[in-house]
Amino acid sequence: MNTLKHTLNQLVGDALSNVSGLADCDPNVITASKPEFGDYQSNGIMSIAKKVAVNPRQLASDVVEKITADANPLIAKLEVAGPGFINIHLSDTALMQRASEIQNDTRKLIPTTNKVDKIVVDYSSPNLAKEMHVGHLRGTIIGDCLARVLERQGHEIIRQNHVGDWGTQFGMLISYMRELSVSQGDLPTQLADLESFYRAAKERFDADPEFADTARGSVVKLQGGDADHLIVWQQFIDESLKHCQALYDKLNVTLSRKDLKAESFYNKDLEGVVKKLEEASLLSISNGARCVFLPEFTGKDGEPLPVIIQKTDGGYLYATTDLAAVQFRSFDLKAERSLYVVDARQSLHFQQVFAVGREAGFASENISLEHIAYGTMMGSDGRPFKTRSGDTIKLVDLLDEAIRRAHELVSKKNPGLDETTYLEIAEKVGIAAVKYADLSKNRTSDYVFDWSSMLSFEGNTAPYLMYAYARIRSILRKQNSGLEGVQITSLSEVAERNLLLKIMQLAEVTDMVARDCYPNLLCNYLYELAGMFMRFYESCPILKADAQLRDSRLALSALTAATLHQGLDLLGIETLEKM
Ligand code: ARG
Repeated sequence: MNTLKHTLNQLVGDALSNVSGLADCDPNVITASKPEFGDYQSNGIMSIAKKVAVNPRQLASDVVEKITADANPLIAKLEVAGPGFINIHLSDTALMQRASEIQNDTRKLIPTTNKVDKIVVDYSSPNLAKEMHVGHLRGTIIGDCLARVLERQGHEIIRQNHVGDWGTQFGMLISYMRELSVSQGDLPTQLADLESFYRAAKERFDADPEFADTARGSVVKLQGGDADHLIVWQQFIDESLKHCQALYDKLNVTLSRKDLKAESFYNKDLEGVVKKLEEASLLSISNGARCVFLPEFTGKDGEPLPVIIQKTDGGYLYATTDLAAVQFRSFDLKAERSLYVVDARQSLHFQQVFAVGREAGFASENISLEHIAYGTMMGSDGRPFKTRSGDTIKLVDLLDEAIRRAHELVSKKNPGLDETTYLEIAEKVGIAAVKYADLSKNRTSDYVFDWSSMLSFEGNTAPYLMYAYARIRSILRKQNSGLEGVQITSLSEVAERNLLLKIMQLAEVTDMVARDCYPNLLCNYLYELAGMFMRFYESCPILKADAQLRDSRLALSALTAATLHQGLDLLGIETLEKM
């Protein structure tokens, strides 16, 4: 099954080609911008008319005539409007037929793609030296949403958690660990809190020059493959990854250990990266370091900007590893798309890596490299979100606080439940609120983190949507004869028809999210869908209507619930049957 928009684009496109004589016409069918324009409108006629030098209104009316002559059952009415638009009104019967097909198998709400792509989604990717903090939230949940959406469409998704596990700070951490571990194989107890472990190691490093020397020596030993150092390093990495996994689980994020492709994985390829750049005559020496200069990258004063590949001491850089990763994703994984869900402040880095990657042949011809950039989460003071004392906030603390606040909220809103129920609700609502508040913002902008708006039951929030879902489920529970085989047979009320049409557009929204990678489009859609349900519920009695109408409205309600459920699931948000 194709989406309505896709079907209409084909239908109008074919008719347009037929009457204009031009192959592959894009009729540019979109959802109608106003209700009086019908359900969809075709905006592409004017530009085709220009190409074939005919009057656009005439062309539009020829297209209308052609489609009408073919009597497509999907179409109720077509109108030529303005300078050459076509307004499209869909047939109620066709909509209801489509609905019954979807009802039988609600996975059809989002049809499977005809062309399966292999898509790498690089997301979360924290540096393992420290615990995950609030700055890691956006990349983790935006990436997870995109992976879910693309996977749901039937694409082959390769999640890649490109964690930083090989920087110079590991020398310091390993030395400190070696100093602390009482006997071989034991983990220092201090490691339970990675953050304070890092701080303690740093203090030691700053205070004691002898320790600092050992630490610097440790990096060299580690990178040279010294067995002892590697064992300690591995212990540290394992411990760090456990922290990350606990957060992924808490956040309902689909990353696991098997998605790990740490920076150290590419160590073996870095020499080859340099060699390949050398062969392509792209390397030059600047201040002793090996660099690539591309003419399109210049600084403020027009001076050329380097991409540093190898430092004087032989050390490789972030960009070197990323070039190796481009190569791996292109030629080993053979991906068609590689998405990098990373902070917007790394834009220049990715532009450079992509450009050098293309220039030197690390990227295959058919791979699309896309930096899915996101802005910063701000505090109410308009600065990056920090504690009062200016420390970074641990992600785990933020999530626990969300759960605590959600607990307070639900016990106030719904007194008299038992504690286990409160805890279950609070955990889901708290996490959902934080995730939704983030996903519902345009990812490229910075946004202000605000507890009270994200935990509100009104407006475009997770509690509002989860509550709408639970409410529909409770209506459905009141009807005890079951919904088996019950069909939508009435669209005579505007609110009914609007709701059903909206339900069918979930697939169109996921198409857009899959293409442009903006999860907020899906959030807006779900918010509008819930609003349309509320309007339907207010204007169309359900349980009090006569039997056939009641059944039809129950079926429509059930389909709304299924749509909300699937949409929220794509955002990585779990629903509750009762709230
Ligand atoms: N570890 C990096 C950081 O914390 C992000 C890595 C993103 N992915 C990549 N392929 N560069 O900034």
